[in-house]
Amino acid sequence: MAQNRKKKIGLIGGGQIGGNLALLAVQKNLGDVVLYDIPAAEGLVKGKALDINQLSAVDGYDSRVIGSTDWKDVAGSDVIIITAGVPRKPGMTREDLLDVNLKIMRDVAGNIKQHAPNAFVINVANPLDAMVYALHKIAGLPDNMVVGMAGVLDTSRFKCFVAEALGSSIRDVEALVLGGHGDDMVPLVRHSTVGGVPLTQLIAKDKLDAIIDRTRKGGAELVGLYKTGSAYFGPAASSIAMAESFLFDRKRVLPAAAMLKGQYGISDFFFGVPVQIGAGGVEKVITVELNDAEKAELKKSYESVKQTVELVKL
Ligand code: LMR
Repeated sequence: MAQNRKKKIGLIGGGQIGGNLALLAVQKNLGDVVLYDIPAAEGLVKGKALDINQLSAVDGYDSRVIGSTDWKDVAGSDVIIITAGVPRKPGMTREDLLDVNLKIMRDVAGNIKQHAPNAFVINVANPLDAMVYALHKIAGLPDNMVVGMAGVLDTSRFKCFVAEALGSSIRDVEALVLGGHGDDMVPLVRHSTVGGVPLTQLIAKDKLDAIIDRTRKGGAELVGLYKTGSAYFGPAASSIAMAESFLFDRKRVLPAAAMLKGQYGISDFFFGVPVQIGAGGVEKVITVELNDAEKAELKKSYESVKQTVELVKL
C-alpha cells in the first residue's frame, strides 16, 4: 500500500514559542520536527527535543523531534515557522526590535533560500509585518508561500475578551481582526457575532470600546506580566493552525499578513487580511466589504506598517 511521506516541520528558534510549537506539532501528529537554533543554544534545542520525545508514549504520538544547530537538518522542510529573534520587554514597542531582529532575519532568510526554498514559511518574529517583508525579499520566496502569523492571534484575543464579557462559549463567537500587528489593528465589530447575533446588540458601546482597546494591546498586556519576554502559547497555537491548514490542505480561512495585489486598494505589500490557506499556500485573499469608517481605520493601520517597512534596509 502506498504510504504518504511524513511531513517535515522546521522550527527556527528554540525559545519559549519554539518549544511550544514542537510540542503542539507532534501532539497533533503534523509530522517530524526539527527544532533549530544557533550553536550557543545547542543544549536547549537538544534538551527540548529529547524532553518531548520522552513523553511521546504518554499521548502515543509517532512524530519525532530533533534538536539541531545545522541548517542541513532543516533542508526539505514542508513548513518553516520562524520565532528566532528577541522579544520585547516592558516599555518597548515592537518597532524597537526592528534593528536587532532584522539582523537575525537576514541570516534566517538567507538559509531558507539555500536550504528550504520550497517551504511554506510562517513568520512570528517582530515587528511582524516588517519582518515578513524582509523575509520574502531576502529568501526570494513566492508571494503565496510567506505569511505572518499575527491575525490569528489578534482575532483569538478579540474572541476571548468577547466570550469573557458575555460569559458565553468561545465556540459561538465569530469575529475578525484586520490590519497590521500593532496598536492600529482593526477589530471588525460590525462583522462580529455571537451565536449569529451581532455583537453591537449584545455588548454596550463603552464595553466594546474597552474590548477593542484591550485586543489592540493584547501583546503588551502579556509583556507587562511576563516582564522578561512576550506571549508564547498564543503565537505557537496560532502558527500551528496555519501550518496544519497548509500541510493537510484544510483550506481554512484565517487572517494572516499576506501579499496583497490590489485587494483593499493595497499593492505589493504584506498586510493582515483573511486568506484561504491550503496545499498551495495562500490560495485566495478574501476581500471583506468595509464601510468608510472601517476603510479609514484600515488605512491608518496600513500607514503605520508602511512607516516601519520603510525603515527596513536590505
Ligand atoms: C504578541 O502580540 O503577543 C507578540 O507580538 C509579542 C509582543 O511583543 O506583543
